[in-house]
Amino acid sequence: MIVTIDGPAGTGKSTVARLLAERLGFEFLNTGAMYRAVALVCLERSIPIADGDAVAAVPPQLSMTFRENRLWLDGRDVSEAIRTASVTEVASRVASNQRVREHLVELQRRAADNVNLVTEGRDQGTIVFPHAECKFFLTATPEIRAERRLAELIAQGQDCSLEEILADQTERDLRDQQRACAPLRPAEDAVLVDSSSVPVEDVLARMEALVRERKSIV
Ligand code: DC
Repeated sequence: MIVTIDGPAGTGKSTVARLLAERLGFEFLNTGAMYRAVALVCLERSIPIADGDAVAAVPPQLSMTFRENRLWLDGRDVSEAIRTASVTEVASRVASNQRVREHLVELQRRAADNVNLVTEGRDQGTIVFPHAECKFFLTATPEIRAERRLAELIAQGQDCSLEEILADQTERDLRDQQRACAPLRPAEDAVLVDSSSVPVEDVLARMEALVRERKSIV
């Protein structure tokens, strides 16, 4: 069975997806981390992001493995390195590259072979797994998403303002929604879940109940 969770950044998607997978005993795939890994390598190799051919050449050269919710890239743990502000910015641009997407989509589909999977991203229910048995689209107001991000950055000892975060987030949301390939949008058969004023525990309980209900009839 495949469960997809799509939505913009800051909706609590990764946390909810990981916990849901744990509760169900399913595998968990964080596809944003894959785009981030490509961005990290582009930054490390000083590849100009505007050079589509050079960027598209990166993913086939990489070996990505998820182990215990950490991402290993060519044998090194990059779980922290892919979370910096510069990687976040570049990842959003790398994700507009059609050939990068094609390669990563292929890897994502392979990760679903013969396993039960909870996968999260922007296009999981629309493009990657259109026949998934259970699809969710998680939303929250821009202000709440930015406040969550600010709390995360402060916890990491980084210094920035709510206004800056909100401006960056708006720019990335627009890029995700307006890009030609796999724009962010809910699948027609996705269940919309607004996490703005609902505790994670309640969001999770609602989603888990729905997956179990669907599981019993598929
Ligand atoms: O979810 P995230 O912030 O870690 O994702 C990083 C970037 O990758 C973000 O700009 C959206 C993009 N992305 C995408 O285009 N498709 C996905 N399936 C997952 C992420």
